[in-house]
Amino acid sequence: MKSSGYMRLDWARTHMPVVSSIRERMIREKPFKGIRVGMALHVEAKTGILALLMQEGGADVTMSSCNPLSTDDAVVKSLKEDYGMKVYARKGETEEEYYEYLNKVIDSKPQIVVDDGGDLVKLLHTSRSEMREYVLGGNEETTTGVNRLRNMEKKGDLKFPMFDVNDASMKHLFDNRYGTGQSALDGIMNATNILIAGKRVSVVGYGFCGKGVALRMKGMGARVIVSEIDPVKANEALMEGYDVMPVREALKVSDMVVTVTGMKSVVDYDSIKNAKDGIILSNAGHFNNELDLDKLEKMSKHSEQVRDLVKSYTFDDGKKVYVIADGRLVNLAAGQGHPVEIMDMSFAIQALTAEHLFRNYKELENKVYPVPFEVDQDVAKIRLESLGIQIDQSTEEQVRYSESWEEGT
Ligand code: ADE
Repeated sequence: MKSSGYMRLDWARTHMPVVSSIRERMIREKPFKGIRVGMALHVEAKTGILALLMQEGGADVTMSSCNPLSTDDAVVKSLKEDYGMKVYARKGETEEEYYEYLNKVIDSKPQIVVDDGGDLVKLLHTSRSEMREYVLGGNEETTTGVNRLRNMEKKGDLKFPMFDVNDASMKHLFDNRYGTGQSALDGIMNATNILIAGKRVSVVGYGFCGKGVALRMKGMGARVIVSEIDPVKANEALMEGYDVMPVREALKVSDMVVTVTGMKSVVDYDSIKNAKDGIILSNAGHFNNELDLDKLEKMSKHSEQVRDLVKSYTFDDGKKVYVIADGRLVNLAAGQGHPVEIMDMSFAIQALTAEHLFRNYKELENKVYPVPFEVDQDVAKIRLESLGIQIDQSTEEQVRYSESWEEGT
């Protein structure tokens, strides 16, 4: 009998046509032959397929989680037992274990690192800097991690080349928007079983992830309020038909809030204290620091677990607020992560970019690089092919026209 982890991996692979088409070539060509790859990712079925793809392409893969609550233990078991992979991750791991596991990845002397959020790269620049000598470069999956890398680069602290997978078109336009949109709702509904239609839902942050969450909330019948510090994005939200107001005002009238900013303490204790009674707080950003839960924990009169993934906090005046999954990213801590077809595109970008990195590392500097244009285009084309969708091409005359300045009408 197949284990549930094995079946989850199988199901994911079946629904990842882009990765599958790359896989056939990688099995044949073994582009990662003999290369040690260290990954710190959300260890679940789709990520498992990326890790297996690189293993099948010849890599020696060691993997840990990039978040203590996002691991799928059944998948970890199958990766270890059925595929012989070195995986260090456990759902609910302590902070100590979290760092122990990242250090295990570093102990494997990775030559290519695939990070999500930047903790692995940070260790390779701080407590484990002696292991950097093995590293040729790496990829970063997410907005938060890329922000950290850019700060390192600006300060001259980045000591190996890193590719910004997050900002590839075939990643952020789909993963951040439609992926986060669907999976954040999946997590919230799974954790609470609450009706969304008719609710006032506050979305804090209107980047691509916030846009996705707001869009799907609206689609489910919520009345959406957006809070944003960027005046251009605030205008975008307004013209999309959402109310726009500061966090503190939004929380007074909201039944639910989702933070998606990548910034710390965007919902501060004061805003929580003044929020509508019974409000449900959740975070879909990478780190669990977007809601000021430390202060909430200290200042509330009483707290208790009221569902598997929901904790209530009661104030002196009897008012209650609820927090999902300790403010950890709700789409993975309470849901199944982004839909499989979305991660198919993101992880195809990851694999092809890692291949590009390995082919070209000698020419690369200690910088943050964009994903090569051709990788983005290839993934876009393969995805359309896999769906049987054809598109038009410019004629020669149109190409000439688009490249000229003399021609008018
Ligand atoms: N599944 C695997 N990695 C993920 C990510 N970064 N976001 C959402 N779901 C995921």
